[in-house]
Amino acid sequence: MSQATNQSWGGRFSEPTDAFVERFTASVNFDQRLAAQDIQGSIAHATMLARVGVLTDEEREAIVTGLNEIREEIRRGEFQWSVPLEDVHMNIEARLTDKIGITGKKLHTGRSRNDQVATDIRLFMRDAIDAIEAELIRLREGMIALADREADTIMPGFTHLQTAQPVTFGHHLLAWQEMLARDHERLLDCRKRVNVMPLGAAALAGTTYPIDRHVTAELLGFERPAENSLDAVSDRDFAIEFVSFASLLLMHLSRMSEELVLWTSAQFDFIDLPDRFCTGSSIMPQKKNPDVPELVRGKTGRVYGHLMGLLTLMKSQPLAYNKDNQEDKEPLFDAVDTVGDCLKAFADMVPAIEPKKVNMFEAARKGFSTATDLADYLVRKGVAFRDAHEIVGESVAYGLKEEKDLSQMSLDELRQFSQEIESDVFDVLTLEGSVAARNHIGGTAPEQVRAAAQRAREALDVLKDQA
Ligand code: ARG
Repeated sequence: MSQATNQSWGGRFSEPTDAFVERFTASVNFDQRLAAQDIQGSIAHATMLARVGVLTDEEREAIVTGLNEIREEIRRGEFQWSVPLEDVHMNIEARLTDKIGITGKKLHTGRSRNDQVATDIRLFMRDAIDAIEAELIRLREGMIALADREADTIMPGFTHLQTAQPVTFGHHLLAWQEMLARDHERLLDCRKRVNVMPLGAAALAGTTYPIDRHVTAELLGFERPAENSLDAVSDRDFAIEFVSFASLLLMHLSRMSEELVLWTSAQFDFIDLPDRFCTGSSIMPQKKNPDVPELVRGKTGRVYGHLMGLLTLMKSQPLAYNKDNQEDKEPLFDAVDTVGDCLKAFADMVPAIEPKKVNMFEAARKGFSTATDLADYLVRKGVAFRDAHEIVGESVAYGLKEEKDLSQMSLDELRQFSQEIESDVFDVLTLEGSVAARNHIGGTAPEQVRAAAQRAREALDVLKDQA
């Protein structure tokens, strides 16, 4: 074999790879991130080969010892990555052969880089999903605890960003929490399909060695070996599923971010975010900017981009493996990092939100937010709903003119619009009365919010037991 060609596949080549093509086709600069998983997979593969008698126990020992040393070299930052060796797999294998000689070359028996890389990515994704889940749990727990604490705190609820009806801040937080609960389920569902083992598929058709894929799968903690070798080396739908999960989660975090940004503005002034989550302006000394939620909102866009990138990467690929698939890693890694960082930011920040209760209450009082309650009151007194709607509309018009909220009007003022109105009307016109009256599952009454927080904790515990 010519020294100038790649040592793993140079046998049939008569001239070295073009220098640019070598760089263009190499992935080691980014796939070295899979080194730990690559070594983990190789150790399991060698162990299985020894069990079925393809390697001797001594050969397996040498390979495992060598790979463990290489793991340490990489950890210490001493490993020399080489672009001519193309990718993480060949870099590690070449180093193994340097260290233990000819036995190192036996590691690749009965496998291909195609099933190797598919396995590495799945191992990586499994670890990433578990780390992301831990942050998601921390965020959900903090959010539920805050919701429980703020079950009585009244704020305006909005539709069209116009004051609609009073709600409790705890209820609003539990709405966020429901979004995250669904994201959590999607993540665990995705993990089931990630946790399937490609090894043994070899290049595409399987291998002639007497391998035992159940042994390898068990050693690596996979649920089962992949059913079909062609599919196992080619599809990346599990990665797309993860980025779909990430896109939905970030869509939710972005909506929450938008509300946090609005609420910290002088115009809303509903909450304070501690200084450690904010930054200042280099020119305007008075500024305290909600950079963390703004960045989460901004980073959502790049993860959507990765989703579209990966879908497009896969859409025209014939079976089985194609080099196109090497392009899966950078978007996937970035999606993992971005979603992990955004979740960490939120899990740290949410418990530190300080509601400005007086401002929230005053805002709810200003916007005629109990108008629906007055209409419902009239219906209870026998007025048809459409007529009640009309009567309340006239009262609001009067209030706008007089600059008075409904609860600030006297009984006589209110009775100009309907003789059915009596002194008990003030029970429903107060914000406390309004929220307390929505007392059913899914409603905003403080009692319901506390019960919902308890159920949310229990539902979270069920998912935690599943993992
Ligand atoms: N670096 C490659 C990738 O990430 C590994 C598999 C290469 N296989 C091959 N037949 N060239 O997809």
